[in-house]
Parts: sequence; structure tokens; C-alpha cells
Amino acid sequence: MSKTHAVITAIGGYIPEYVLTNEEISTYVDTSDEWILQRIGIRERRILKPEEGIGVTYLAEKAIENLRSKKDFDPLEIEAVIFATTTPDYILPNAASLIASRTGMTGAFGFDLGAACSGYLFALEVAQAFIASGKYKKVMVFAGDVLSAVTDTMDRTTCPIFSDACGVALLEATEEEEGIVDSIMHMNGNSLEHLHMYGGGSVHPASHESVDQRLHFIHQNGKVVFKRAVTSMADVCKEIMQRNNLSNDDVRWVVPHQANLRIIEAVANRLEIPLDKVMVNIDKYGNSSAGTIPLCLWDWEKHMRKGDKVILTAFGAGYTWGAVYLTWGYNA
Ligand code: UT7
Repeated sequence: MSKTHAVITAIGGYIPEYVLTNEEISTYVDTSDEWILQRIGIRERRILKPEEGIGVTYLAEKAIENLRSKKDFDPLEIEAVIFATTTPDYILPNAASLIASRTGMTGAFGFDLGAACSGYLFALEVAQAFIASGKYKKVMVFAGDVLSAVTDTMDRTTCPIFSDACGVALLEATEEEEGIVDSIMHMNGNSLEHLHMYGGGSVHPASHESVDQRLHFIHQNGKVVFKRAVTSMADVCKEIMQRNNLSNDDVRWVVPHQANLRIIEAVANRLEIPLDKVMVNIDKYGNSSAGTIPLCLWDWEKHMRKGDKVILTAFGAGYTWGAVYLTWGYNA
């Protein structure tokens, strides 16, 4: 009996127009272009200017416009909308409802999924399971963040890293041997102190004190997170390659979360996969959390070929991490 697979049949992406350079960051914190390039690998990043009064669903709307310019589909046929983000427009309603209604996907149900930088992988896992169940045939997965909204511009250890972007993928059911083949997802919640944003939730709702204490910004212990990111992503990629009998030569593309160029290089090194097979655009776009992996796919779409064996991997707050092995479904 053939198994139903979920395959990505279209990709869209969007980055805001404003280019925030290392030089500009150096005007408000004690840092330099040289330090940021050497230690993080970022030359510039894109952000939404706060005065624009728009949020992540604006980026999502632009991303789906981009997808629709390449692939025609009937929005009424979309049955589920999953939006991976930790920076929705509002605490409620969810971003999925807003984007579905604005883009005509009014027959869909949906929800936001919070798994920080691993959000896209977790959303693919859910979409794949929906489709494999036989109940859903077309699922739209958005993944993106407006991290500039939660970045402390007075904290030089975080403000050069974070950025804004959104990607979108249409997943469809197929009986062909293509699409998502395997996945390994992990979560371990004992790392709160190392990577968090304490303000705005039910423990520290917004108050004068929470603002004064700068609780509405992301804080991280960079060194600790760095080490865990490298070992977790490398180990989970090795595991998924081993159990699918994939050699380094078989893998055409590795698509890692873009948190730090040195993390990406260390993971590639441990996998013994050359960097020309590893998608890297952190230099141009920074770390947009859930947005980085779909943004890589969007950036590389024209270079990917039907059948290419692709490993996606991410690590983020939670901790959350994982890997997805898929075969690419189309030639752009
Ligand atoms: O996406 C979610 C997952 N997040 C990650 O994976 C991020 C993981 N962590 C990192 O990418 C890196 O740890 C950072 C980029 C955050 C920091 O780089 P690092 O090489 O680990 O630097 P460090 O924290 O060890 O700091 C080294 C020095 C310190 O100075 P001292 O104490 O040696 O005098 C810092 O104060 O660099 C200093 N420093 C800076 N100097 C200039 C930290 N940030 C800056 C800066 N400019 N922006």
C-alpha cells in the first residue's frame, strides 16, 4: 500500500526593506563591523522600523504574494494554516487567523506554533502528520519573526544578531516517493536561564516594573547556547542521516538555522559536509528565528532540483531542536 507523503510544492519569502548595517549598530552600542563579522558572520540585516505600525503578518502577506507569483493555487482549498512565530502581531488573536482571512484562506482552520528558532521544523512536523493522516491535502506553513520588536538595542551581545523575515511553504499530499521522508524533533525545558524573554507572559505581565527591568527583550547566555546549538544540530543530523542510510555525498543540501556563521561551520565540519552544500545567508539577513530556514529555501529555490536530498536543522529557545530529511519536489 502506498503511503501519503507531504511535499513542499511552493516557497515564498519576504524581508523588510530597511537595511540595518553593522556601522549603524556601532553608533548606539560599543561594537564594530569587524567584531560582528568575525564573531557572528553578519554584514547586515533587515528590520521593520517600529514606526511603520506593522508586524509579522505584514511580512507573511508579502511572502505569500511572492509564493503566488510563482504558483497559482485556490486559497479556498487550503485546509490548515500553521504560523510558526514567537512574535505574533498580538497576543490574541493568533497570527494564523489574521493572515488566513487577509489572503482568502477562509476555509482553513489554524494556529500559531511557538518553538522559537525551531518553529519551522516543528510546523513541518505537524503539517506532515496532518497530511499523512489522510484528513488534509493542502497545508500552508508560515514561519517568521519580527525579532526587532523584542531586541534590546542597548545590549551589544544580542542586538547585532537579530532580524526580521518571514517565509511560507505550501505542503501538499502526494502518493509519489518524495517530500518529507523522516524527522527527529527534540525539546528540553531546563535551559530557561540561558535563553528567554521573561516579560509579557503570565508570570511577568506588562507593567511599569517589567519595562523598567527590560524584561520584554530576549536575553541569552551566548557561550552556553552556542555550544549546545553545535552539538545538538550536529548529533541530530548524524542520527537522521544514519537511519536513512545517507552518506555525506548523498546529501545535496544542508539548511541550518542561521544563528551564527561559526555555529553553521562547526556543524558542517562535524558532518564532514563541504560548505558549498550548506545554505548560508546570515551575512545578508541575520537571525530571524523561525524565518531563517524558509528564507534559505526561498533564496536557493532556483538552484534546487526535484529529487535533491535535503537536511533541515535548527536549534533554539526551549531548548528546541531537530532535523527534517526531505527530497525536493520541483524544479523552479
Ligand atoms: O538563535 C537562537 C540560538 N542562538 C544562538 O545560537 C546564539 C549562540 N551564541 C552566539 O552566537 C555567540 O555566543 C555570541 C555572538 C552571542 C557571542 O559571541 P562569543 O564569541 O561567544 O562572545 P562572548 O560572549 O564570549 O564574548 C567575548 C567578548 C566579551 O568581552 P570580554 O568579557 O572578553 O572582555 C564580550 O563582552 O566579546 C564581548 N562582546 C562584544 N564585543 C564587541 C560581546 N558582544 C560584543 C559586541 N561587540 N557586539
